[in-house]
Amino acid sequence: MSTIFYGGLITPTSLTAYRALPRALLAVSRETGNIEWVEDDVPVGELQNVLARHGLVSEGVDIVELKLGEFLMPGFIDTHIHASQVPNIGSGQQHELLDWLSEVTFPMEARFADPGFAKRAYTTIIKRTIDYGSTTCCYYGTLHSQGTKVLADVIHNYGQRAFVGKCDMDRNSPDYYIEPSPQASIAATRDIIAHIRSFPPAQGTTEPLVRPILTPRFAISCTSELLSELGKLASSDPSLAIQTHISEKESEVVFTKQLFPASSLPLGETLKGKTHDTTYAGVYDAFGLLRQNTILAHAVHLEEAEVDIIKARRAGVSHCPTSNFNLRSGCARIGMLLDRGVKVGLGTDVSGGFSPSILTAVQHASMASKVVAMRASSPPPHTHFTDRQLSVPTLLYLATLGGAEVCDLQSRIGSLAPGKAFDALVVSIRSDAGNPAVWGADLDEELGVRGSGGEPGDEGGRGKTDVEELEGLLERFLFCGDDRNVRRVYVQGKLIGGKEFRS
Ligand code: GUN
Ligand code: FE
Repeated sequence: MSTIFYGGLITPTSLTAYRALPRALLAVSRETGNIEWVEDDVPVGELQNVLARHGLVSEGVDIVELKLGEFLMPGFIDTHIHASQVPNIGSGQQHELLDWLSEVTFPMEARFADPGFAKRAYTTIIKRTIDYGSTTCCYYGTLHSQGTKVLADVIHNYGQRAFVGKCDMDRNSPDYYIEPSPQASIAATRDIIAHIRSFPPAQGTTEPLVRPILTPRFAISCTSELLSELGKLASSDPSLAIQTHISEKESEVVFTKQLFPASSLPLGETLKGKTHDTTYAGVYDAFGLLRQNTILAHAVHLEEAEVDIIKARRAGVSHCPTSNFNLRSGCARIGMLLDRGVKVGLGTDVSGGFSPSILTAVQHASMASKVVAMRASSPPPHTHFTDRQLSVPTLLYLATLGGAEVCDLQSRIGSLAPGKAFDALVVSIRSDAGNPAVWGADLDEELGVRGSGGEPGDEGGRGKTDVEELEGLLERFLFCGDDRNVRRVYVQGKLIGGKEFRS
């Protein structure tokens, strides 16, 4: 049995292009939740024929017809979010990173020692990220294994796709919020991994929706012994993902280099014949923590040599522009990273970032890239992205397929293609979505500023084709949309949230 969607569809294809299909037909298997097939352009009169060609008669199938102003797109991927910091959103913007951690963040995270508090808080927190359209999130819990198990349970019950890790931190943290030893940290980490791996796979599939992820908070909060043990755990299990922070703020980089002088580092593999200088990335690399499923949040102040290491190890960067502005950390040079071939996705970094929405991250990624472009005299020759503003196709890519690459899940999610999981949003750019910041497509039609919307290539009041109209709706959504415009949220074919689901 299949569910069929008919109407507008948007899906990324590369860093510089996406497909906007005004009359697509997409089939999802109800057994597996995977996309079975996509037909790019089906006029209404052809619907029955096309369904019949796929062996379907319309009476027996469940067809979801999208209205004018609605379209399907892949779900957002939030590659960096601290679930335990959501109660702090909108607080603490006067601080910079290190004092923000001690004044605002650690006191809140410490409250998750109480599993009852954790249950109540995470139940509302996860519902919010789903309703904002994040079908996959890379979550930091807290240092508590019990509380982080509760987080994983809540996510599992809602049906969101996620990576969940407990923070490992055995130094440079307050007495009330620190692990007593590297051994205790590793034992708690093994415990949460085993818990998450005991969840059954999603119905009809063999793959889990919730996966464990090693989470050394950042180098500053980990002793060499702890990083070394985490490196051993990682090397014993290549499927285990890793997430951490890197090079967010200058003061943090200076402190990291003091804590890990080159002489203190284990002799890792050498890169291009050089031994490790002490760089932030070099520290993680020396402990075997950089690989194709490592997610590095921020990467604002990377040195040249670090870009090479990150690229060579195929680790990914989570760009968190809302947080980078809010904590005055800086503007990451994302265009340069893209030109160097580094994988990049977006992260909300709640509550360094003050919004749980990837749409806000998209808007701030655009602004950050414009700041970088304005600061530069002119973009270097022979580059595509460096010191230029990020275009709409690039922003869409970072929010979806780029995030999937960072999670090393690009073969399963990030775009709407046959064989991939149906992790998708039904977006509504209509007045009845109730978001006054968005100009509805229905108003365009009512006021006659839209094309008559007939055949492909048809030109209307604004001289736009149907494809251009759809592209315009995507841009309005990315820059002016919010959760009210996210009508439905699907993960692995299952409806789990969105405005329509909750009303
Ligand atoms: N570095 C270490 N911990 C954190 C955190 O919780 N948020 C951010 N933005 N940076 C960090
Ligand atoms: Fe963070």
